[in-house]
Amino acid sequence: MYSFDISAGTKAELYRDLLSALDALTADERDAIANMANAAALIWQYLPDLNWAGFYRALDGELVLGPFQGKAACIRIAMGKGVCGTAAETRRTQTVEDVHAFPGHIACDAASRSELVVPIVHEGRLLGVLDLDSPEAARFDAEDAAGCEALVQVLASRIV
Ligand code: SME
Repeated sequence: MYSFDISAGTKAELYRDLLSALDALTADERDAIANMANAAALIWQYLPDLNWAGFYRALDGELVLGPFQGKAACIRIAMGKGVCGTAAETRRTQTVEDVHAFPGHIACDAASRSELVVPIVHEGRLLGVLDLDSPEAARFDAEDAAGCEALVQVLASRIV
């Protein structure tokens, strides 16, 4: 069993603690799926107000569903489609306050209102995306984007 000391303080403290927990959890494991699975579980457990947290992997030019927590989701997403495909194609984090206003948003769970998608790039290669969904509008801000980008940076070399 793992137990982590995750702060219930500020958002900055929460992400700092999440980062060190993720680092400890994945440092000695080389299996990409195992590391993505534990990362999804950690994020799901400690980030409040999520209804989906997980990964899509870049495989043969499209995004394929990877380890996640939440309801069963769309399996394959074309590059450039939806929030995930946009993050993957542009290699830029997408913070969407209202998914209904995002052209081409792919609704996997009708409860989703806002979304944060961070591309995962390692040594110039796109490995996939981290996707977080929330039932609350505007759940994610710049601090969440930066916090999740830091998580992805630690994880990237461990999911190759
Ligand atoms: N909403 C995403 C699809 C993935 S699900 O949210 C899990 C999108 O528009 O890319």
